[in-house]
Amino acid sequence: MKMQEVFDNYKEYIVPSYTKVPLIFVKGKGNYLWDVQGRKYLDFFPGWGVGNLGHCHFKVMCAVRDQISKLIFVPNNYFTLPQAQLAKELNFWTKEPFKVFYANSGAEANEAAIKLSRKFGNGRYEIITFENAFHGRTIGALSATGQAKYQQGFAPLVEGFKSVRFNDIAAVQAALGPQTAAVMLELVQGEGGINIATAEFVQSLRRLCDEKKLLLIIDEVQTGIGRTGTMFGWQQYGIVPDVFTLAKALGGGLPIGAMLARKELADLLTPGTHASTFGGGPVICKAALAVLRTVQQEKLLQNAKEAGAYLRAALENLKKKYAQIKDVRGVGLMCGVELTVPGKSVVEECAKNGLLINCTHDTVLRIMPALNITTREINKAVAILDCSLDAVLKQG
Ligand SMILES: Cc1ncc(COP(=O)(O)O)c(C=O)c1O
Repeated sequence: MKMQEVFDNYKEYIVPSYTKVPLIFVKGKGNYLWDVQGRKYLDFFPGWGVGNLGHCHFKVMCAVRDQISKLIFVPNNYFTLPQAQLAKELNFWTKEPFKVFYANSGAEANEAAIKLSRKFGNGRYEIITFENAFHGRTIGALSATGQAKYQQGFAPLVEGFKSVRFNDIAAVQAALGPQTAAVMLELVQGEGGINIATAEFVQSLRRLCDEKKLLLIIDEVQTGIGRTGTMFGWQQYGIVPDVFTLAKALGGGLPIGAMLARKELADLLTPGTHASTFGGGPVICKAALAVLRTVQQEKLLQNAKEAGAYLRAALENLKKKYAQIKDVRGVGLMCGVELTVPGKSVVEECAKNGLLINCTHDTVLRIMPALNITTREINKAVAILDCSLDAVLKQG
């Protein structure tokens, strides 16, 4: 199929709900992608937070190949080995007892958390959420997403969400009411512009939730699986959430979502109260097991911390050079470069020059390479970003 034919087919047959970049990818390996014309790209935003191991990691491929030849799928009214193994492995990482509900995406994992909070609330149904949050596109998760631009045109939303200022404990206290059942947040708001929750704020939230008998729900869909330098972001805050959600990087490129809830809470979802046909199929669970083991075997948490610090230092150097860089921030390998101008043309220029990054919240360049990224690759990426900034900002 010719390139134009692909674009034409999309135009004719595919729902146009995505803002698309005119690149057609045919191959991925490690930190590189190749397009249909054979051009090679250094991928510093693999899979929108999915590619923590880069593309087509050998161990994930082997795990999938092995499982696919044994058993592809059985429904959730039966038991499978991979589901049991993965839940146990996740508990190894949490260090605290959690039970897992398997879903297929981040939004679906968050829906499970929202439903669990209603069961827990036993009549109390309100969830306090945050401005600039992002929790997904299904109608419940969208209602929890504190950004009008995503909600526009989809009213009426689900009742029972109150969005307040991020990092503002007084705002949370002011929003509390007799119906409040939970507080839900990302520790680093990804889509919202790489906004980092302070330790003081998160610890105050934990105390408040204990005091008022509220669930503390943490959305780790983007921050989870080592992205911030620990397996889960909350492990850097000296707290344990009641519920947290995972998706994106957990499956190594295959679709999975997971809601993890403290044991006694999880048991509120009794048989028949929640389900997902494909949730936690054997192939995807084996892929996720391979991901978790690879993070450990390849010491990727350590690399996320070290490479993240190296990357941010290099970006700080760019900040000294360009007045249009307002801020460089991040945790581990979740980095944001806030500009005083829109970032779209910088992302486009980078792609032209063979580097893939993202821009979120209009002005924040989002840079989240795989956790196994090397300093050499970082140097290369920062050099391309430098040239691209130079070209775009000079014109602007
Ligand atoms: C923090 C967060 N939660 C939830 C989601 C939704 O995940 P999914 O697209 O898998 O439904 C996203 C997606 O970007 C996310 O970043």
